[in-house]
Amino acid sequence: AATAVIVVAAGSGQRLGYGMPKAKVPLGGESILTHALRGVAAAGIARQICVAVPAGDEELELLCESFARDLGSGPHAASGGGGQVPVVTVVDGGTSRADSVRAALAALLPGTEAVLVHDAARALTPESVFHRVVAAIAAGAEAVIPVMPVVDTVKTVEPTTGESATVAPELVTGTAPRETLRAVQTPQGFALATLQRAHTAAAAFDAAQAAAVTDDAMLVELLGVPVHAVRGASQSLKITTPLDLIIAEGLLEGPLG
Ligand code: CTP
Ligand code: MG
Repeated sequence: AATAVIVVAAGSGQRLGYGMPKAKVPLGGESILTHALRGVAAAGIARQICVAVPAGDEELELLCESFARDLGSGPHAASGGGGQVPVVTVVDGGTSRADSVRAALAALLPGTEAVLVHDAARALTPESVFHRVVAAIAAGAEAVIPVMPVVDTVKTVEPTTGESATVAPELVTGTAPRETLRAVQTPQGFALATLQRAHTAAAAFDAAQAAAVTDDAMLVELLGVPVHAVRGASQSLKITTPLDLIIAEGLLEGPLG
């Protein structure tokens, strides 16, 4: 299937705290976005890579353009299964992640059949994860997500008021059975028409509903479309906090066996 990979890189990186968009933050001497784009290209599955950058960020636009040039002429052109050299498109991202995905969806090449949505912040995602997602789509799934088992016990809480609030600010309301829980990663893969339908519906959400959207698969779930899960990878961690960046630096120095 003609496959596009949307790389969302338009976030501001508040929690990382570098005072610059997270896509620009250095990791092993290169930007987080450079690592992410290289991973996507190395997987060799994309006819198009569509990158959402912070609106008007010329530095990141130039980074994408120079990456595209290197793909066409450099050693990367030979790598990747099938040897297809992807078209690289850059769009202005939006204020929410979902807005950034919608901006990228609007810029996909005609004839695109399948789309993967990937966080630039998951800069070290192994090729094998892209391949598992694409294989499930090729086998007929409309929606596929990479997941990991959850290591911590997960509880639900609600804020407390009155007397109980003097003891602690939150009251535990339940414990989800851990064996049924999965931590969700990207790239998430979809039949293009399915993801378009999901995002069209989400564009009409009110502010509270929109704020609750944390991935693409949950929008597809709302349509009642089955979402399939394949194995993710610990190297796919989302670089969110300074601790995550330390872990990512460590992975670059000596990858997990
Ligand atoms: N993202 C995006 N557009 C937004 C918000 C987020 O493209 N308006 C992207 C980020 O660039 C990132 C991915 O979505 O690759 C996951 O978001 P997150 O880890 O939250 O990144 P930031 O929003 O940049 O970080 P923070 O929430 O700490 O500010
Ligand atoms: Mg964010």
